[in-house]
Amino acid sequence: MKVLHVAVEVFPLIKTGGLADVVAALPVALAEQGADIRLLLPGLPAVMDGVQGARTIIDIGSCFGAMRVRLLLARMPGTKLPVYVIDAPYLYRRGGGPYQDAEGEPWPDNMQRFALLGWVAAHLASAEADPLWAPDIVNAHDWHAAMCCAYVAEHAPTPAATVYTVHNLAFQGLFPMTDWSQLGMASRLMSPAGLEFHGQLSFMKAGLQFADHVTTVSPNYAREIGTHEFGCGLDGVLRGRGGSVSGILNGIDTDLWDPATDPAIAQRYDAERLAGKQACRKALQAELGLQDDDDALLITVVSRLTSQKGLDLVLAALPEMLAAGVQLAVQGTGEPALEAAFRMAEQAHPGRVQVFIGYDEARAHRLMAGADAIAVPSRFEPCGLTQMYGLRYGTLPIVRRVGGLADTVTDASEANLAAGTATGFTFDAATPSALARCVGRAAQSRKSPAQWGAMLATAMGRELSWAGPAAQYLALYGEVRAARAARLGHAVA
Ligand code: ADP
Ligand code: GLC
Repeated sequence: MKVLHVAVEVFPLIKTGGLADVVAALPVALAEQGADIRLLLPGLPAVMDGVQGARTIIDIGSCFGAMRVRLLLARMPGTKLPVYVIDAPYLYRRGGGPYQDAEGEPWPDNMQRFALLGWVAAHLASAEADPLWAPDIVNAHDWHAAMCCAYVAEHAPTPAATVYTVHNLAFQGLFPMTDWSQLGMASRLMSPAGLEFHGQLSFMKAGLQFADHVTTVSPNYAREIGTHEFGCGLDGVLRGRGGSVSGILNGIDTDLWDPATDPAIAQRYDAERLAGKQACRKALQAELGLQDDDDALLITVVSRLTSQKGLDLVLAALPEMLAAGVQLAVQGTGEPALEAAFRMAEQAHPGRVQVFIGYDEARAHRLMAGADAIAVPSRFEPCGLTQMYGLRYGTLPIVRRVGGLADTVTDASEANLAAGTATGFTFDAATPSALARCVGRAAQSRKSPAQWGAMLATAMGRELSWAGPAAQYLALYGEVRAARAARLGHAVA
């Protein structure tokens, strides 16, 4: 089975969130199970500088407003996975972020930048870009890669089938309809049954309508996005796809996130040797200038600071949380108002609240190892990885029961405690008081070392690796490929 993964982010080259972690780890897990996996990335500066042994596969010439476009084949640093890179200096070689400029404004040519990504993926799928390798499946991630599904669908002879993975339905890639002519798509697709979404042109819809199969990153989110509450206006489209939408829960890279081997933390530990976790907690308090308080419930937040993540609830519940003996250590970047509010909270509560505006991977590991609990009070959460990093590090998650958070954290209810399945604390209402009550339960639970210790052991023992999810993706690829071959009248080898 040959599979091409198409995305913008991949750890450690480009990362703004969990997408990068998934695109780094899932392909490797698939390769370990025998699949022939390659990546396709736009040639952003960190990609051009980070990949190894790049050579030109084809000179594409000028397209999508760029005069010089080439397709390169290289290897990922570390994993050595083969990676195609689109070298289009005019579109990709610039400072700022992958989607936005340094001021946080979307790049004005994002439509061309990501249409090119989908278009090149479609030409790899049709075996025209690289005569030596063509995929059976193209798995496109998020709206940035979604156009690939429409281009493949519009080119009937393409043998490859498409899978579109939604990591976040809220980011949709909407552009003015006046840009339509630049896509090179038939005008009959300028309709609600095609790519039109409330008068705009939607890359998200290219994936949702035209992929052979749509996956999301947790089974619960797959159900939720078929509802008005979580569907971001696309719930009807998703319901229309019926059984062609399903959820496969993300895994985590259990080598990279392993307290027994983690080079970034003060002392290594595992479920049998928890003294190291205590040492990490003390080291973290010292590093952050938090009071050396053994009784505090030390909660971390490692997150993009956006409304999705519900962190305004943490700010509003802070007085009650502090009264319950909480210490808070935050790392993240995002909306200026949230950044400012967290900075003010830090100033108001020295020794109890510490905030880093920015993102540093090693510090994320130290926070994960040193904290007692991790808060993820999201309004919606397609999967969420940080609560799983928390489970692995014995840092119990305090989460809102939505999306993948509900699929990965088992509440410390009396029944679950008795059954020995509890791994964290969940709440339902997106209100400061519901969060504060949940944090209060966690603080209470930590006062019972037997109860806390049992939960820690269950959490740290949870199977979180990519092996299971990768097997599910491979089974799905097999089905999707067979269905496409049947439609085209081919036999599947
Ligand atoms: P999301 O992808 O919605 O941000 P996840 O929980 O799936 O949420 O993944 C978050 C990942 O991104 C984690 O590896 C986390 O350490 C990292 N991360 C959190 N905040 C930032 C940030 N501001 N910039 C870059 N990476 C971040
Ligand atoms: C998105 C989602 C997050 C998910 C990640 C990786 O960024 O917001 O919930 O874990 O993608 O799939």
